[in-house]
Amino acid sequence: MHISPRLHVDKETPSTLSLSVVSHVFQMNKKRDLFEDIELYDEVTEIIPFSMGAPGPVALSECNAIMMEATAKALEDRSEDRYIFQYGPRQGDPKFRENLANFLCKEYEDSKISSDDLFVTAGATQGLHLVTTVMFDKDIPIFVEDPSYFIAIKILTKDLGMKVIPVSTDGGGIITEEFERLLLKERQENGVAENKKSPFTAMLYTMPTIHNPLGCSLSPERCKHLIRLARTYDILLFTEDVYNILYYHGKPPKRLLSYDERDDPQYKGNVLSNCTFSKILAPGMRLGWIEAGERIIKIVTESNVTWSGGCFNHYTSRLVSTALQMGLLSQHLKTLRKLYGDKMKFACDSLKKNLPETVKINPPDGGFFIWITFPETFDCAALAKLCASKYGLNFILGTSSSPTGSFKNCIRLSISYCEMNELKVGLDKLHAAINEQMKSTSAS
Ligand SMILES: Cc1ncc(COP(=O)(O)O)c(C=O)c1O
Repeated sequence: MHISPRLHVDKETPSTLSLSVVSHVFQMNKKRDLFEDIELYDEVTEIIPFSMGAPGPVALSECNAIMMEATAKALEDRSEDRYIFQYGPRQGDPKFRENLANFLCKEYEDSKISSDDLFVTAGATQGLHLVTTVMFDKDIPIFVEDPSYFIAIKILTKDLGMKVIPVSTDGGGIITEEFERLLLKERQENGVAENKKSPFTAMLYTMPTIHNPLGCSLSPERCKHLIRLARTYDILLFTEDVYNILYYHGKPPKRLLSYDERDDPQYKGNVLSNCTFSKILAPGMRLGWIEAGERIIKIVTESNVTWSGGCFNHYTSRLVSTALQMGLLSQHLKTLRKLYGDKMKFACDSLKKNLPETVKINPPDGGFFIWITFPETFDCAALAKLCASKYGLNFILGTSSSPTGSFKNCIRLSISYCEMNELKVGLDKLHAAINEQMKSTSAS
């Protein structure tokens, strides 16, 4: 997650768009940002949160009606009490998995999704934590794209102490030849590590669709290459499919999971798709799911941590199940795609129009983030300081998103939390800050 204390006052946060509301929100935002590497924002009292990858008040404003309706319906049948309030089945409630499978078939335009392949989690973060802890011994290599989701890097390295190996990317996502090279190098130097917890000898934490922070999706050639490597070397492709359904143009992007064709004679099930309702409904629900083939679902379902707690978020899943069955989420998704799509277009147009030619943006395929690349010598840390101290806005530094501390000349902007008016104000300020920083760099 990426939420500053500002979100803790959500209940009071109004959902209209007027400028007075924006300034009211600023007033409430008097505490510091939680990100450890941008504690330089401490002194700031008013921050436009371009750092935040959470839904804003408008995106959340429909959730109350959705959940009121779904909850009333889900709780109306009292004979269900003994199931809905009980520990849930380990893999997740069958009705929920069925409604979810139907929803996903429609939204991914993929008829092959089966409820047997779905496992209920308490969100993508918990999905990552569960898989890495119950499927991998600590010394098993975990390959991570450089750059990647900045908190996942910290989870894997700091919380879990895993052996993380960074893999380079380009504008199209992970460079799969580089992944192959590093994989072979690792095997040559250290042999094939013995993993007592699952048949996988390594894991790749990857975002093949609408990457965070790059915004890009992997080409079919690269997807096929990853599948070949995964099958040959018994690698788990852990795909963080958090933004897949939030595409703003055309058809849904094809997922890496669907390249691991079950009809292939070499099929074993090497891809796990880790998903969440945080971006398409509400992060407060703490509900997500894993989609994978039988051998992976079996391991997570039979783990002791799942045995002890049962389904990781059973009650909420039953409510969301009803919302799915009533068609409330498909309707909501249409609203979200328009809301975020409009903001994304506005932000990309504004950046393209106002940024100097030497500054590049990668217009994303969907999701929340715009990755901005400045000339090599540009100091983004100094820009962050200037933005915080003089212009009242923040963003994520490229270095935070990098397991190697690279990308000093890059930043990640999020369009998700700010409403349109705040976005406009913030982008004007950002352009002014960039100009000021560029002038001072060229003068020095
Ligand atoms: C790539 C990625 N993974 C995981 C998360 C967190 O998801 P959840 O709220 O489901 O734990 C985020 C949120 O920004 C994300 O961008």
